[in-house]
Amino acid sequence: MPDYLCGMKILMVCLGNICRSPLAEGILQHKAQQAGLSWTVDSAGTNGYHVGEAPHHLSQKVALLNGVDISSQRSRRFSGADFDQFDMIYAMAGDVVEEMKWLAKNRFQEAKVELLMNELHPGSDMDVPDPWYGTEPGYHEVYKMIEAACDRIIARHTSLAHQ
Ligand code: 4NP
Repeated sequence: MPDYLCGMKILMVCLGNICRSPLAEGILQHKAQQAGLSWTVDSAGTNGYHVGEAPHHLSQKVALLNGVDISSQRSRRFSGADFDQFDMIYAMAGDVVEEMKWLAKNRFQEAKVELLMNELHPGSDMDVPDPWYGTEPGYHEVYKMIEAACDRIIARHTSLAHQ
């Protein structure tokens, strides 16, 4: 396997690390495995309010309905040290990037950070909406958005492999 496909380390970040980024971690990990990519995928949250908790029950439910089990994930807080560990860090929304900058201070590396939805709609700076205050349909919507972006990430890397 070419070097650029080995050991990619990707971090997904949202505010609480219980709704959006656990879905993003689970979906990308699942798709990478299916594509035969040995990637490390993790997630974290900027606010630290839910550290140690499992993903929100509706994120778990919607993921499982799509064949992705995220029940063993536990929330952790994002830190500047994540810039040493990961090749690429996807933020679910613009406010998350601002929080990452505040937490990481001079360890923040612009080149490693991208809004997840820019993978699907480059330059749009679209947010994955926060489903936390809403009901189940919001979680299905968020799942679809994250899945489409993850499909694009996998497609880009697997097409590189076939060049
Ligand atoms: P998430 O959603 O960032 O997608 O995990 C949230 C979950 C909890 C809170 C905010 C957002 N909260 O403030 O507790």
